[in-house]
Amino acid sequence: MEVMTAQSTAVRKIIPGKREMAEDRIYVGLDIGTTKIAVVIAREDQYNQLSIVGVGTHPSTGLRRGVVINIEKTVDAIRKAIEQAELMSGHKIHSVYAGIAGDHIRSINSKGVITVSGKDRVINESDLFRVVDVASAIGLPMDRIKIHVLPQEYIVDDRDGIKKPIGMSGTRLESEVHIVTASASAIQDITNCVHQAGYEVDQIVLEPYASSLAVLDSDELDLGVAILDIGGGTTDVAVFFDGSIRFTSIIGLGGQSVTNDISHGLRTPMEQAEDIKKNFGCALQSMIEQDELIRVPGIHGRAPREISRNVLCAIIQPRMEEIFNLALRELEKSDVFDSIGAGIVLTGGASLMPGTVELAESVLGLPVKLGSPVVEGGLAETVRSPMYATAVGLVEFSRKSADGSPERKEDSFTNRIVDKVRRYFEDLF
Ligand SMILES: Nc1ncnc2c1ncn2[C@@H]1O[C@H](COP(=O)(O)OP(=O)(O)OP(=O)(O)O)[C@@H](O)[C@H]1O
Ligand SMILES: [Mg+2]
Repeated sequence: MEVMTAQSTAVRKIIPGKREMAEDRIYVGLDIGTTKIAVVIAREDQYNQLSIVGVGTHPSTGLRRGVVINIEKTVDAIRKAIEQAELMSGHKIHSVYAGIAGDHIRSINSKGVITVSGKDRVINESDLFRVVDVASAIGLPMDRIKIHVLPQEYIVDDRDGIKKPIGMSGTRLESEVHIVTASASAIQDITNCVHQAGYEVDQIVLEPYASSLAVLDSDELDLGVAILDIGGGTTDVAVFFDGSIRFTSIIGLGGQSVTNDISHGLRTPMEQAEDIKKNFGCALQSMIEQDELIRVPGIHGRAPREISRNVLCAIIQPRMEEIFNLALRELEKSDVFDSIGAGIVLTGGASLMPGTVELAESVLGLPVKLGSPVVEGGLAETVRSPMYATAVGLVEFSRKSADGSPERKEDSFTNRIVDKVRRYFEDLF
């Protein structure tokens, strides 16, 4: 396994010649969503203060359920979103950390054991890399590629629950890791789109993992928490316990299905259904006054109509319930579901609908809250929304990966998958 290098290529010294800025670092997150492309550019100063300096968004029409289906449209949207963020920030960027989702994503937990190598039996960085390598050596079909190998904990001889084993003494080192794999073609399509837009990909990052980095705090991670990112095309699940990631999964349903149902139910075009949903939608029918009426503009010369908001919510609620029931089924697959002490955090645009938190609580039987990225800087207000959790999380991931300390690196034993995918396709043809 090749392990991500300490010094990421995304990190560049900027504005050469300006000494006071020489230590600044730039991080770029590119969230290629089913409904929008979002780009966040952040700058970290020499005091490790991170501020958002550029944000770009563009409607995305080239994806279905988190997967690229139209390269041309996706390239165009990526280019426009990045250019917008570049203009806002005043920085020309070269490479990005890009998100990946879709129901081709699979994840498993795995274990590996090694004998500690040094004469003094003190665990060093190379032991750590070796044991993670052993744990991640799983057989994979030809068309799948590992995108993350995330260590959960280590066992040194008989001592378990260890997070940072470097410097500890022992003869036997065991690691438990969470492995995420993705379809090679899906990775290649994302990489191609970014290249064609004129940029490099530093890393491909699982979207719910990125979102969790933006909105979860360390207490929640320790107590046990699940994140549900309900986007347009997918609902992404990640479960954490005892400070580590335990489970990830992607469900191929999101806010677009709700819009689709409204469009069918009210016999109205998708665009208008989307407006009605955002302006009047509610995920819980019991929160609506019985006689509330909403005015729907007529289309193609027809007269405007008045419909009951109750009817609208009767269309929305079953679909949202289905999403939460599917999420519950996924959450129950994680063997730590019963230990989720901090409850559920919702992100993604579809979580903004009134009644969503209440409905989620009743289906999942756990406390639920909305999660927004915690960030600073002039543009922080713009990205302090559940819709930007993934893009800000990608920035956080790139910052984590760029930190050269072994402790930080332990958190991100991630393959240089972009190189791997390139090799995979070279071997194929
Ligand atoms: N105020 C709102 N009320 C209800 N739904 C909303 C609201 N704002 C946005 N949405 C919905 O959120 C969805 C988009 O969310 P988001 O931007 O997180 O998705 P995405 O990242 O593009 O898609 P995905 O993550 O599934 O690939 C759309 O279906 C949109 O209708
Ligand atoms: Mg998304």
